[in-house]
Amino acid sequence: MTEYLKHYSVMLKECLEALELGSKASGSLLLGDLTFGAGGHTFALSDHIAGSMVYSVDQDPDALKNGEENIIHRGKVGIVKLLPMNFVEFPDWCEQNQMQQKFAGILMDLGVSSHQFDKMERGFSFRADAPLDMRMNHGDNSKPTAADLLNTLSEKEISDLLFTYGEERLSRRIAAKICELRMTKKIETTSELEDICFHAYPAKDRHQKTHPATRSFQALRIAVNDELRVLENTIPKLLPYLSEGGVLAIISFHSLEDRIVKHTFKEILEKQDFPVTILTKKPLTATEEELSINSRSRSAKLRILQRESQLGRVDGTKKKRFKT
Ligand SMILES: C[S@@+](CC[C@H](N)C(=O)[O-])C[C@H]1O[C@@H](n2cnc3c(N)ncnc32)[C@H](O)[C@@H]1O
Repeated sequence: MTEYLKHYSVMLKECLEALELGSKASGSLLLGDLTFGAGGHTFALSDHIAGSMVYSVDQDPDALKNGEENIIHRGKVGIVKLLPMNFVEFPDWCEQNQMQQKFAGILMDLGVSSHQFDKMERGFSFRADAPLDMRMNHGDNSKPTAADLLNTLSEKEISDLLFTYGEERLSRRIAAKICELRMTKKIETTSELEDICFHAYPAKDRHQKTHPATRSFQALRIAVNDELRVLENTIPKLLPYLSEGGVLAIISFHSLEDRIVKHTFKEILEKQDFPVTILTKKPLTATEEELSINSRSRSAKLRILQRESQLGRVDGTKKKRFKT
């Protein structure tokens, strides 16, 4: 549990402000954190919004186990509830559980946690040799690991995957080298993939700021966890469970995710099934002060939308607070 207590929660102040606005505007004290991780945002929300109840989702069995211990440790039993699931299942869960109240705010802090990334045996990082797993829900053996994908997809499929999810310009060369190696042996470890990527790059480009394996590792992680499709499918389905005046706040960490958040918010706005106001015309980014403490916040982008009341916009003046 102690390793989870050290976690840094990205753009925390901005998230607290956004969900507090949702709570005040809607009168609801029900909050949702769909990416519990180390619980940093969840516990801060619970402390910040008096009387609130937080439902928090995660698909990672380690995060959930530590979360349950942490809930007891922090005296939050009955105040913070953990839901073990992929967040794409959350709207159905709300439907099935006939939630009496709607949410004042729902937060998503996307991607892997620093804890998952730093735990070498999870296979997200090439900083140490480990099995190429990369499943956030590593308890689910029905889902392919990163190694499974590399050993079964065709060369073209691997190349497309690296290009689409990693924006890797040398995707074809890397895919060809992967297929060459797997003729002699299965690809099983992070070091093997790191070595392939490194040698696929021309010698002059191997020691740039971004390591040659970074984009391929990102691409595989996104593919293994089906991250973009899950995100795209979840966002619109959350609207019916948001109170009028409630907010949806989403932090993304790379352009593929941010693009989905931006476009999906726009579609919701245009469709008008649920009238909303987008409170962030441009995404919010971390302050210099935060960046000096946590460099991972550098790529964070926070977008927020608010459900309007049927009578019109809820507290439109608050929009100003979220300008960049
Ligand atoms: C960036 S971390 C969240 C950190 C958290 N906000 C905090 O302050 O401690 C993302 C977490 O969301 C979980 N996660 C990512 N995608 C998910 C999904 N589709 N369904 C459920 N959990 C997911 C990951 O397992 C990880 O624990």
